[in-house]
Amino acid sequence: MDPFASLEQAEEMIAFLRTLYGEGTGCRWTITEARTERILGTCGFHNVSAEHRRTEMGYELGLPHQRLGYMTEAITAILSLGFGDMGFNRIEAFVTVGNIASRKFLEHLGFSLDGTLRDYEFARGRFMDQWCLSLLAREWANR
Ligand SMILES: CC(C)(COP(=O)(O)OP(=O)(O)OC[C@H]1O[C@@H](n2cnc3c(N)ncnc32)[C@H](O)[C@@H]1OP(=O)(O)O)[C@@H](O)C(=O)NCCC(=O)NCCS
Repeated sequence: MDPFASLEQAEEMIAFLRTLYGEGTGCRWTITEARTERILGTCGFHNVSAEHRRTEMGYELGLPHQRLGYMTEAITAILSLGFGDMGFNRIEAFVTVGNIASRKFLEHLGFSLDGTLRDYEFARGRFMDQWCLSLLAREWANR
């Protein structure tokens, strides 16, 4: 997505994310450091399809907090919840082609590449290809 250009845009995004759970279309958690309660990033589910027992997943950490294992800890927790109590069969993630860190991160968690979606998103003034990766409940159970 385009970077926020104002505080208002960030506040609008937070307000939108807060509606997801009530509407049954997802939920977003903040990732905080227990000791300091500092917010490090967020992660969650969106575009939930109850019929197909499927959801998209998203995540991001502030730059100083990357590569310290925080997101592995957070996503492992929400995958357990997603495939457990929430009952999803498939959890998928879309990654802008070239975001190697995010693709490697998902593969490290057991996700497989389904394919490349051409010109799937329009951001920063141009269309961008997206990798689609997914993990199935049976793969999570047998990891
Ligand atoms: C992608 C991202 C979420 C990874 O979170 P993280 O907490 O830094 O990842 P972890 O420390 O838990 O790393 C777990 C594994 O992921 C892979 N990985 C993570 N960052 C990587 C990088 N920069 N390059 C290559 N592999 C990477 C590695 O396999 C790593 O295991 P290792 O450290 O033992 O080699 C984080 O870099 C991020 O927020 N990036 C910016 C936002 C973003 O791209 N969001 C996703 C949009 S689709």
